[in-house]
Amino acid sequence: MAINLDVNGKSHRVDSDPKMPLLWVLRDELHLVGTKFGCGVGQCNACTVHLNGSPVPSCQIPVSAAQGQKITTIEGLAADNALSAVQQAWIDHDVAQCGYCQAGQIMTATALLAQTPNPTEVQIDEFMARNLCRCGTYTRIRMAIKTAAHAMAAGKTGSTA
Ligand code: FES
Ligand code: FES
Repeated sequence: MAINLDVNGKSHRVDSDPKMPLLWVLRDELHLVGTKFGCGVGQCNACTVHLNGSPVPSCQIPVSAAQGQKITTIEGLAADNALSAVQQAWIDHDVAQCGYCQAGQIMTATALLAQTPNPTEVQIDEFMARNLCRCGTYTRIRMAIKTAAHAMAAGKTGSTA
């Protein structure tokens, strides 16, 4: 079945089983491999993308349900090759360890700051709780989110969520 997708501001037409998880269409059809497969059952959120700005686990979204929605992947965060404030903060705090969960973490953090520009630690922990990190980088993630919030408040590179 032909399905039209809006991914990172570009239109794509794919021929896919409508029940195929969005994750596999992004990775295998559109070659956007920044979005990772972790558990495949909606538990880890390594596969997080944005649908109309909201973070969702792409392994749980049938591609047909993503039609007509604005899909953003990790590849869509850097506008004109300039890293977003969240991406820059991740580098500044050297957040990643193995790195496997980090695209999903960045997507969820970006959505958090779009909704709550100056989150408390409790708000950060609650919003980020959906994203698991087997390497335990949670402390650096929290610090990076605070740094990104300050940078965005100061008008530096902004979120694209
Ligand atoms: S891979 Fe999608 S939630 Fe784990
Ligand atoms: S950095 Fe290794 S799983 Fe998070």
